[in-house]
Amino acid sequence: MKITFIADLHHYSEALGTSGRAYELRSGSDQKCLAETGAIIDSAFTKIGDSDTESVVILGDITNNGEIVSHEEIREKLYNLKKKKPVYVITATHDWCCDKNPRRFEGTSTFHDVPVMKAENLRDFYKDFGPSEAVSEFFTHLGTSTYTVDIGDKVRLFCFNDDQNGKGKSGYKEDHLQWIEKEIKKARKDGKIVLGASHHLVMSHIHPMLARGGTCIGDKEKVASRFADAGLHYTFAGHSHIQHINSFTSEKGNTIYEVNVGSLVGYPSPIINVEITDDKIHIETQHPDEFTYKGISYDTLSYTRKHSLMLVDNLFSAAQKGKDEFCDRLTALGIPQDKASILYIIAHPMLKYVSNCTVGEGYKKLKLFGMGRLFEKSLIEEFKHKNVMDFAYEIFLSALDGSTVRHPKGSSYYRIVMSFMAIPLKIKDIDLTRGLYGVVESILTGSKWDINNCDLPNLYN
Ligand SMILES: [Fe+2]
Ligand SMILES: [Fe+2]
Repeated sequence: MKITFIADLHHYSEALGTSGRAYELRSGSDQKCLAETGAIIDSAFTKIGDSDTESVVILGDITNNGEIVSHEEIREKLYNLKKKKPVYVITATHDWCCDKNPRRFEGTSTFHDVPVMKAENLRDFYKDFGPSEAVSEFFTHLGTSTYTVDIGDKVRLFCFNDDQNGKGKSGYKEDHLQWIEKEIKKARKDGKIVLGASHHLVMSHIHPMLARGGTCIGDKEKVASRFADAGLHYTFAGHSHIQHINSFTSEKGNTIYEVNVGSLVGYPSPIINVEITDDKIHIETQHPDEFTYKGISYDTLSYTRKHSLMLVDNLFSAAQKGKDEFCDRLTALGIPQDKASILYIIAHPMLKYVSNCTVGEGYKKLKLFGMGRLFEKSLIEEFKHKNVMDFAYEIFLSALDGSTVRHPKGSSYYRIVMSFMAIPLKIKDIDLTRGLYGVVESILTGSKWDINNCDLPNLYN
C-alpha cells in the first residue's frame, strides 16, 4: 500500500498581482513562493500522477489565503490529478481567510477587496475529493468537515478538520473528539490500519519552544493521548512548513507518530511517499523535478532554496538596519511584537559584528568583548575561512528539510555552531535564549526518524 502526502500548497492566483513594490515586499517576507505556486503544483502533480502511489492526501492550506480565484484554479488542477489517482483533501484556516486580511497587489498598493471562500462552503466545494465517498462524517461548528474514507481494504484514513477548538486555538471541541475516538475504535474493530491527516500539529517538533503560538492544537498532550489510546498510531500534518517526525506516548503507554510535512511551494517542496508493509511503515521524501514559469524552466529544489534564503538575507539586513524594520519583518512572520523587540536586542549586536565576516574575523571581534573563551582554538583554525552567514543559511535550510545534513554532538561543526549559540545566552540568560540554543542543537542533530528516508515500526502488526 503506497500513499502520498503533500501539504500547504497555498496556491496563489496570478490574478492577485505578480509584480510591483507591494508584491515584492510580500513575496520577500515569505519562506514559500507566491506567483510560482501554480507552476510548482503542476510539476508536483505530474510527478505524483505518473508515480506508482495509490492515493494522494492534501493536508490543508490549499490556497494562499482563501481567495475564490485561487480556489477555483487549484480545484481544476485537483480534478486533473484525480483522473490519475484518488485525491483526498482537508481544508484549513488559510482556505477561508481566517485572519480576514485578503490581499491583492498593484504597483505600490495593496488592496483588500478580494472575494474569499466562506468556511461553511468548503466541504461542498471540495466534496469530490473525499467527503462524497466518506465512510463517516462529522460537521464542526464552522460547517467544515472531518471525514473518514477507506483506502483499499486495509486502511481507513481520518481527514480531520482542526481549525478551531472553541477556546481560541486550533483543535477539537469535546463532541468532535468523542466522535473521533468512537470512529477510531470502530475502525480498529473492523481490522483497519488507521491513519490520521490533519493540518495543525498534535505534538511539538524540533523543540518545545516552536510549539508556542499557533503551531500546535490546543490541549495537545490530552488530544494526542486520546488519539493514541483509541488506536491511532500514525498521523500526518502540515502547517509549520517544516519537515520532521516525532512521537508521543500516552500515560497508558500507547504511541502516536506524527509526520510533519513541509510546504510543497517552499523549500524543500516535499512529496512524502509512505509505503505500508506488514512489519514497517516506510517514509521517504521526494521533490518535483523542474517547473516552468513564464516559459523558463527551473530546478524546483534550487529555486525554492534560493527563495527561502532570500528571507534569511532580508531578516539579517533588517536586523542591521534598525529595530522598526527588524520587528516589521518578524511580525510579518507571525512573531509577536514584544518577542521581536527582545530578539532585536540580542540579534542586533551579534549580526552587526559577526554576520558579514568569516569565523576567523568574527572571533577576533568577539575576543574584544571578552567572548573569546567561548571558542576552542582548534575549531577557529578549522573554520576560519568559512563565512558566519553560511552557518545561518545551513541551519535555516536544515530546519525546513528535516536535517538532511546532520551534525552529531561532538562533531567539530556542532561544537563551533554551539559556541556561537552560547553568545546570546551570555548576553541574556532567559527562556528565549535557552530555547534558541535548544532549537539549533536539535536542528543540527536531527530527529531520531529521518523524514527523508526511514522506517517506523508497524504497530498494527
Ligand atoms: Fe501553511
Ligand atoms: Fe496553516
